[in-house]
Amino acid sequence: NLLFFLFLETVSVLASRVVVEGCPLGQFPCGNMSVCLPQVLQCNGHRDCKNGADEEHCDDLPFHCCYYSFTIQPEPVIMCLMICFLALQQYPVSCDCTKTEVECVGVNLRVVPHLSSNVTWLSLKSNDLRELPDDVFSKYIDLQRLFLQNNSIHTVSSHAFSGLFRLRKLFLSQNFITSLGPDVFSDLHKLQWLVLDQNPLRSISHDIFTGLKSLIFLSMVNTSLVELSELSLCKYMPLLSWLDFAENQINVLNSSTFLACSELTVLSLRDNKIKTLPENTFQSLQALAELDLSCNRIADLPNSIFENLKSLLKLNISHNPLLRIHAGHFDHLVQLESLGLEDIEIPAIQTKMFLPMGKLTYIYFKDFQYCSYVPHVRKCKPNTDGISSFEDLLANVILRVSVWVMAFITCFGNLFVIGMRSCIRAENNLHAVCIKVLCCADCLMGVYLFFLGVFDVKFRGEYNRNALLWMESQECRTIGFLAMLSSEVSVLLLTYLTLEKFLVIMFPFSHLRPGKLQTGVVLVSIWLLGLLIAGIPLLSDDLFGNYYGRNGVCFPLHSDRLEKPTAKGYSTGIFLGDSFCLFV
Ligand SMILES: *[C@@H]1O[C@H](CO)[C@@H](O)[C@H](O)[C@H]1NC(C)=O
Ligand SMILES: *[C@@H]1O[C@H](CO)[C@@H](O)[C@H](O)[C@H]1NC(C)=O
Ligand SMILES: *[C@@H]1O[C@H](CO)[C@@H](O)[C@H](O)[C@H]1NC(C)=O
Ligand SMILES: *[C@@H]1O[C@H](CO)[C@@H](O)[C@H](O)[C@H]1NC(C)=O
Ligand SMILES: *[C@@H]1O[C@H](CO)[C@@H](O)[C@H](O)[C@H]1NC(C)=O
Ligand SMILES: *[C@@H]1O[C@H](CO)[C@@H](O)[C@H](O)[C@H]1NC(C)=O
Repeated sequence: NLLFFLFLETVSVLASRVVVEGCPLGQFPCGNMSVCLPQVLQCNGHRDCKNGADEEHCDDLPFHCCYYSFTIQPEPVIMCLMICFLALQQYPVSCDCTKTEVECVGVNLRVVPHLSSNVTWLSLKSNDLRELPDDVFSKYIDLQRLFLQNNSIHTVSSHAFSGLFRLRKLFLSQNFITSLGPDVFSDLHKLQWLVLDQNPLRSISHDIFTGLKSLIFLSMVNTSLVELSELSLCKYMPLLSWLDFAENQINVLNSSTFLACSELTVLSLRDNKIKTLPENTFQSLQALAELDLSCNRIADLPNSIFENLKSLLKLNISHNPLLRIHAGHFDHLVQLESLGLEDIEIPAIQTKMFLPMGKLTYIYFKDFQYCSYVPHVRKCKPNTDGISSFEDLLANVILRVSVWVMAFITCFGNLFVIGMRSCIRAENNLHAVCIKVLCCADCLMGVYLFFLGVFDVKFRGEYNRNALLWMESQECRTIGFLAMLSSEVSVLLLTYLTLEKFLVIMFPFSHLRPGKLQTGVVLVSIWLLGLLIAGIPLLSDDLFGNYYGRNGVCFPLHSDRLEKPTAKGYSTGIFLGDSFCLFV
């Protein structure tokens, strides 16, 4: 490195001798008069040159950079150097240059430095530029890329970029630009990229885009835009292919904003305040491949909003307060591969909503339960509801093992107790009967778990494809019914036994002990009540929906969100009733 620097140093000294304007290092030329004066005389407030050139551009010129390049013979190696003459302050300026590319990054420049006119690549990132006056770049006619990010630019004069006929990429992000005048980019006929992110622009007039006939990429992320022009953005930018308006404050879209944008492939309107979308907003976007409408305030999507988006591959409408998704919304999105519906409630979800999207591979929902409506999709998120996963009815190993273990223990344990009770003569016969009945009820739970285990094995690895059928099947309802019956009867019986014990303890000498008939009646009514509770939801599909088949384990858990209100009330009633009993 040191050697290289020494080499550069030498070359620079040589260069300064060879150089066009002919002034030795430490001196500066008086304009076009080929007179050289010592550097200290420049900008010292006194006219030392006859033509006054030494006092020109003084307040915007802390130093003066010249950019030279030359050829070393006999090899055609183009060398390039930049020699900076410090004019006012003696701080080091470290700009790097290779060939015709100059980089002055993070060196506190307050104005655009003077460079050789054949610079093609100029980076002035992270400096302290405040404004871009007229014609500031106009002599750099070869400039192809210009980076002005992270400065303090607040004023851009209307001719700041004039003459840059070859510019291809322009970066103006992270500045304080509040307005851009009409025709400000009008010379940039070759510009392909324009990045204006993070400027407090608020509004843009339609004609700032005049002349940008080659523009492909326009990014205006976080520019506080409130509305977009009512005239088509593509009138002046017919080749526009990538448009990013994320993180703005846009609240309305006019149906002509994207008119004629037939080349547009990516459009992001993420994180805005859009409430309504006119019916034909996207009608001319035949080439659109990606549309991001996430994090807006859209409550209603018009029926035919996606109708012309035949090439769409990716659609994200997550995080919108959408009230409903129509059955035919996605009918025309035949190419779609990824669909984001996170945080959206879809009460009327149906499998046929998603069937036209034959190529759909990824789908993202609010609830795991929705995944069962897209059996043909390869990846669905969320991937689990805690019990089932996309692949398996019982998602984790602990759950699987415990279902089998519990099934065996409950079945055989209870059968064993029943057997034992029958062999051993108990002093209190009636009590023994009660215990046996309790065991029977528990046994039903064992049966339920056993079937759950069996179906888990049956669907292993491909649960989601069978989930909907399974949850709507008679088997699911039946085992759900059994589980409910078992738990209700157990709870009621336990309550009864406890009450009885309590009475015996409180009034040991009274003859309140229930007789045979009484016990029989109580037991029968407990079973009837259990049957009633478990059976009612099966009576009316209208009121209760598919009460048991709302999740893979066919048991109404309290956290399910897809419930009908009646079903919800019913579950809550049972839950409270049970809690009350257990409390007693
Ligand atoms: C020299 O500069 C003066 C102004 O400083 C200008 O009027 C004149 O035309 C220039 N001459 C040449 C040959 O560029
Ligand atoms: C750049 O311009 C200088 C004169 O300003 C010229 O001598 C040099 O040859 C040019 N270099 C290239 C690579 O065009
Ligand atoms: C912006 O520039 C400042 C110096 O002017 C620098 O400290 C900071 O890291 C830069 N930020 C980014 C994001 O480049
Ligand atoms: C958006 O831009 C403003 C300045 O215009 C800045 O203060 C803010 O941090 C930016 N927000 C994000 C999320 O980048
Ligand atoms: C869209 O712009 C046109 C032309 O300016 C106007 O007539 C129309 O009312 C606007 N539509 C909406 C929904 O703002
Ligand atoms: C949809 O947008 C949200 C928010 O911008 C983002 O978190 C999510 O990852 C996106 N989903 C897809 C499928 O791209």
